[in-house]
Amino acid sequence: MSEDLKIITLGEAVLREKATPVEDINGELRDFIQRMADLMYKVRGLGLAANQVGLPKRFFIMDITQKDGNPKLEVYINPEILAKEGETEYEEGCLSIPGYYAKVERFAKLHVRALDLDGRPFERELEGLAAIAFQHEFDHLEGVLFIDRLSPLKRELFKRWWKKQSSLKR
Ligand code: NI
Repeated sequence: MSEDLKIITLGEAVLREKATPVEDINGELRDFIQRMADLMYKVRGLGLAANQVGLPKRFFIMDITQKDGNPKLEVYINPEILAKEGETEYEEGCLSIPGYYAKVERFAKLHVRALDLDGRPFERELEGLAAIAFQHEFDHLEGVLFIDRLSPLKRELFKRWWKKQSSLKR
């Protein structure tokens, strides 16, 4: 078995890379996704994109039901947003930026398409937290982080905070 996956944090180049499409949905990929899911549940994240564990490929997982104690893993491979509408705001965090949370504006509803673990296409309507989580993870595949969506002032404050955190850790 390959070594444990690790969550990559802000500052590493792979987080800023635009991920490339998955070309082959095979056992190796399914195994990788299972390991990502184990990690996501272990750290109690709502979602995890492949480039957050160092693989710049277009897929992510999410589970917004964890708090109910009834986990339901969602896997989106080569996801696309077909339609979006409305506005919503939510205090987001990111496993790659530990300890920081900020309100971000998102579309309230999405119509999305992706491939499942067997390579079959599916479409889904998402709203509420599911729509928010999807947009957050989809951004990761584009190399975009939620801090990029903050106002210039808030971003500046974030940068100072992050710098301080990083110096404390050294
Ligand atoms: Ni994130």
